[in-house]
This record gives sequence, C-alpha cells and structure tokens, in this order.
Amino acid sequence: MAPKTFFLAATALVWPAITQAYTLKDNYTGNNYQDFFGKFTFWTGADPTNGLVQYVDEASAWSNGLIGNGGNIYLGVDNTNKVGNEGRKSVRLTGKTAYSPGTLIVADIAYMPQVCGTWPAFWMTAASDDWPQSGEIDIVENANNAQNNQMSLHVSDKQGQCTITSNPAMTATKDRWNNCAEEANGGCDANDSRTNSFGSGFNNNGGGVYAMEWIAQAVRIWFFPRGAIPSGASGPLGSSPNPDTWETPTTVFESNNGSGCDMSTHIRNQRIVIDTTFCGTWASGTWSSSGCAAKTGYGSCEDYVKNVPGDFKYAFWTFNSIMAYT
Ligand SMILES: *[C@@H]1O[C@H](CO)[C@@H](O)[C@H](O)[C@H]1NC(C)=O
Ligand SMILES: *[C@@H]1O[C@H](CO)[C@@H](O)[C@H](O)[C@H]1NC(C)=O
Ligand SMILES: *[C@@H]1O[C@H](CO)[C@@H](O)[C@H](O)[C@H]1NC(C)=O
Repeated sequence: MAPKTFFLAATALVWPAITQAYTLKDNYTGNNYQDFFGKFTFWTGADPTNGLVQYVDEASAWSNGLIGNGGNIYLGVDNTNKVGNEGRKSVRLTGKTAYSPGTLIVADIAYMPQVCGTWPAFWMTAASDDWPQSGEIDIVENANNAQNNQMSLHVSDKQGQCTITSNPAMTATKDRWNNCAEEANGGCDANDSRTNSFGSGFNNNGGGVYAMEWIAQAVRIWFFPRGAIPSGASGPLGSSPNPDTWETPTTVFESNNGSGCDMSTHIRNQRIVIDTTFCGTWASGTWSSSGCAAKTGYGSCEDYVKNVPGDFKYAFWTFNSIMAYT
C-alpha cells in the first residue's frame, strides 16, 4: 500500500491513529468493454465446483453474445438453448494481474444473476493448483434466489493455523468463524442481513458498490447499497479512497493476535475472478430449502437448468466499474 496521507490523531490519547488513503493502480473499466475483457483469461476447464456449466473461451463468448452485449461490461449465459450433461454455456474470468497485501478492490455492480439454479460469484483467488493454500476471498457470493450476500475466507492449515478475531466490529452475522482452515471448518463466512445485498433484492435497488481491503493482518469487506454510496470524484468512493473514513465494515476477517493467523502466509497473489455457474455443490444442495423447487416446479436443479433456457436471460452481471487501488 502506498502511504499517501497520514493524519495524526487530534487527541494524544489515541496513538497510533494513522489514516491511509489508496491510489489507483488498475482501472479495469478505464477504456472500452473489449479492453476490459482483455484484462482477464477465460477459464475453459471443468468447473472446480462441479457445476452443470460449460465455460467457453473469449471468441466463443463474443460469438454467442455471452459478453459485451449492448456496450456494457456484460457477462451473461446461454439463454436460448436446452442443454444436456455438457452444461449451460457461461464464462469464468480470471484477472491477469495478481495482487499483494495492501490492495483495495472497488466494484460498482449494476446488476447480478438472480435466477434459481445459478451460483454467481465475484471473488479472488491465486489461480494456482494448490488451492486453498494461497487463499481465497469471496466478496459477493450466494446461490439460487438468495437476497443476502455471503462473504468468505478460505485458507489451508498447511500454512499453519488461522484463528481470527472473535468479535471484530462488523455488521454481518458471523456464520462459520474462528478457525478459517478449509480442512477444519470449510473456511469462515458471514451473512449480510440486508436483502438488497444480493440477487433480485440487489438488482431492484439498482445494485451497489462492494469494496474489499486486504492488508497483512486483515480482510475487510464493505457493501454500500445504491443510494448510500460515499461519493467522490473519479469513482464511486473517490480518487483516493480511505476505508478508515467509512462506516463499520460489513465483514472483518482479522488477526490482531500475532499467533492467531499470519494472513500474509495464508493469502497470496490474489486475482479477481468473476463467474456464473449452475447447480453444483451449492445451488443443488440448497435447491429445495431455498424454495426453488416449489417456485420452478422442477424437483432438481439440473432438470431446470437443462430445460428452461429462457429464464436464464436474468442470469447476467453488469459492472459499471472495477478498480484496484494500492
Ligand atoms: C476509470 O475509467 C473511467 C472511464 O474512463 C473513468 O470514468 C473513471 O473516472 C476512471 N476511474 C478512476 C478512479 O480514475
Ligand atoms: C442470512 O440472513 C438472512 C436474513 O437474516 C436469513 O434469512 C438467511 O437464512 C441467512 N443465511 C444463512 C446462510 O445464514
Ligand atoms: C491468540 O491466538 C492463539 C492461537 O489461536 C490463542 O490460543 C490465544 O488465546 C489468542 N490470544 C488472544 C488474546 O486472543
């Protein structure tokens, strides 16, 4: 992180009180939308989360109208064809730039997938074969017709323990907590109780801004619904965003106990990932409990995704901007 401004606390009773603002490093949406997609690689392998999805390459995504449609930063899915076990066509983008601690990611999202059977995510990982040994930070994620965002941290106990602060100041509800190792606990996660934080609730409110700050001791995530976004020049949170001036974070994964979790060992080389998959462990696993079986009349997620293509025209993302600050 580039220390841009330092404000010493007005009162000597608070020490040290250091406020750091960030400077822009990468403006993913700085040029046209073709340029945006050039900043990512297109995953074409099998879905690591076992989804009923066929991830396509960039040329196929353009020719099938899955990306860029309408001059926006649009990422959609096949919504015209019935499909079989090969899965529904979609895209999974992995950023070409890897980041280090001292990074702030700001994404202004206008619309996100809101259809039963989908499992969309805006997240970060190291894109290495040793997952989760280099860590994963899930910024926006849930499945089916959810309207509550779930934020997660996944690390491995092969890098040592990762026990996080039990009671940080945050607004989301802690779900899995304390030990964030995949092996021990499946990771850590928290649930935003605001129904405008995901899916149709998010879209009906015009979307909003997600910000994720990753420093050596903590990962902090904020969600600002449309209408409640701190405004600034050159971007939704200003040209020199300073998280310490914002409201209480939505989620804080933090270790202020030196022996609890060395996050710089657990989380490395993080890249932005954007994808929409179908069914898989999450959306299939919650198909009935989410109400999607009753809503769609289909007993299984897979049968619905295969047979009702037209419903998937609402399974797209539109980004107003994505920025990385250091
Ligand atoms: C990123 O680029 C867009 C489009 O050119 C521009 O409107 C925006 O102000 C830029 N953001 C920053 C933080 O400079
Ligand atoms: C998240 O919070 C909402 C609202 O309180 C609740 O309905 C939902 O069941 C929660 N989800 C999880 C996974 O805890
Ligand atoms: C610090 O972390 C260690 C290891 O998780 C734990 O045993 C200890 O209780 C923690 N100390 C405090 C003050 O939280």
